[in-house]
This record gives sequence, structure tokens and C-alpha cells, in this order.
Amino acid sequence: MSFPEKFQEVLKEWVPALVVPISLYVAYKLLNRIIPGAHNLPKLDIKNKVVVITGASSGLGKSLAFELYKRGAKVILLARSTDKLKEICNELKETFPLNQNEPTYYYFDITDPEQAPWDEIPKVDILINNAGMANRGSCADTTMAIHRQAMETNFFGHVHVTQSLLSKLSPDGCIVVTSSVQGKVAIPYRGSYGASKHALQGYFDCLRAEHKNLHILVVSAGYINTGFGSRAIDPSGKVVGVEDENQKKRNY
Ligand SMILES: NC(=O)c1ccc[n+]([C@@H]2O[C@H](COP(=O)([O-])OP(=O)(O)OC[C@H]3O[C@@H](n4cnc5c(N)ncnc54)[C@H](OP(=O)(O)O)[C@@H]3O)[C@@H](O)[C@H]2O)c1
Repeated sequence: MSFPEKFQEVLKEWVPALVVPISLYVAYKLLNRIIPGAHNLPKLDIKNKVVVITGASSGLGKSLAFELYKRGAKVILLARSTDKLKEICNELKETFPLNQNEPTYYYFDITDPEQAPWDEIPKVDILINNAGMANRGSCADTTMAIHRQAMETNFFGHVHVTQSLLSKLSPDGCIVVTSSVQGKVAIPYRGSYGASKHALQGYFDCLRAEHKNLHILVVSAGYINTGFGSRAIDPSGKVVGVEDENQKKRNY
């Protein structure tokens, strides 16, 4: 049997067997295109994007600064601890010399809108609303001052940041909000923290419905061992200083 004849024989044998898997694959790809959802949104290219991160001096904010700078972003870091922010900026430049974007930082107390550095920030592609405080204590014992402090830091502060930067967000911009599972489900002795994160969830769900062009992601994080729990304040405003046992178990 000549080679073309042999080839035809092989084709005759295999083509019927391949019809079903190939059709299934084509149908899957077509459905994927037709069905709307996040899988159809264009992938965000981080390179040279201006990323503003609140609460960037430690924990998740600091880690995000490293991850995004590594991918080529221009990061603008905000927090009260400017000594830590300065150190982070130096470390970013040393660790990722290929990124030519100068990392910058500003003093920022999220509870004090008057001091905010908005004039220094002309444009934003990605806004990461991450600053936050924790507090522990029963609903009954927690003073009104502490309830208000939690709302100012974890809710009103983020509303202020977002309203101030919304007009500077690029048309296909992105807002990421570090909320908590406690923004969905309340647990005992975390009344004002849970309430502030519930408010945060509600506000950004509403904003997403109003600005369909923006990607708005509210992250309902579980326990992460960043030291956040040990910095929590008790009903009288004193720093607890002891890590939540559950938080210690989650090292990622
Ligand atoms: N760790 C967890 O288990 C966990 C779980 C769910 C959600 N989260 C959320 O994740 C976010 C980050 O927490 P983290 O775990 O990374 O803890 P973290 O290391 O304590 O980070 C908190 C950040 O917020 C900043 N911040 C606090 N009060 C501020 C204020 N008044 N003005 C401006 N910045 C302020 C702090 O910076 P300065 O003190 O320098 O200002 C710090 O950079 C928080 O929103 C938290 O609610 C954490």
C-alpha cells in the first residue's frame, strides 16, 4: 500500500473518533463567548498602571505593593507610618530594578479627610481601599466613641477616598476593597468591626451597580496572620496586644 493510501486508511479510522471531542470543544468555546460573566472581561494589564493603596505600611497593603510593583505598576502608597512607607519604597526599587516607575508615598490618616494628598494624584487606574482597624468587645460594652472610630476608619474613610478619586479613575478602572467575611456574617464580640465591614460591602455593591464600566471587587477575606488581630482595640480603646488564636493559624 502506497503512503497516500495508508494515510487515507488512518484518517478513515480516526476521524469519526475525533468528531465528538472536537465538537464538544468547539461548543464549549462558543458558549464561553456567548455566556456573559467575569471570564469574558479583558484581562487587566498591570504594567505602568497607577495603583493607589491605602493601608500600605504593613500586612496585606504592603504585600500588594510588592506584588503589583513586581508586575510593573506605578504604586502610590498611603498610610500614617511614613517611616515604614519610605522603607518599603526603597525596598521596592532595590528588589525590582527593572520597574522604572518611581514608587511614591504620602502621609494619610483615613479619618482626617482634610489632610488627604489628592492634589498630588492626577490619575488612578487601580484603587485599593485596604486600610483598616480591628476591635474586640461585646456590643454592650463597646463605647460609642469606639463604634464611631471603627465606622470612621473602616467605612466613612473609604467612602471619602473613593469619592475623591472617582473622577480620576480611568474609564476601565478598577477598585479593590479589602473587606472581610465579617462583612457578610457577624460573629460575637466583633460588633463594630462587622458592622463597618457590612456597610463597606453595601456601599461598594451599590457603586458597582451605578458604574458598570468599573471593575469593583470586594474581597471577603478570612483570617490572615498579619498581626492585625494583636493591633485590635478593646472596648475602652486600649490595644489588645494579643493575636486572635484563629488569626495565628492562617499564614498566607
Ligand atoms: N488580617 C486579617 O485576618 C484580615 C481579615 C479580613 C480582612 N482584613 C482586612 O485587611 C485590611 C488590611 O489588614 P492587615 O491584615 O493587612 O492588617 P495591618 O497590617 O494592621 O494593616 C492595616 C493597615 O491600615 C492602615 N491604617 C490603620 N488605620 C489607619 C488610618 N486611620 N489611616 C490610614 N491608614 C490606617 C495601617 O497603617 P498605619 O497604621 O501606618 O496608618 C496599615 O497599613 C484591613 O482592612 C482588614 O480589615 C484583614
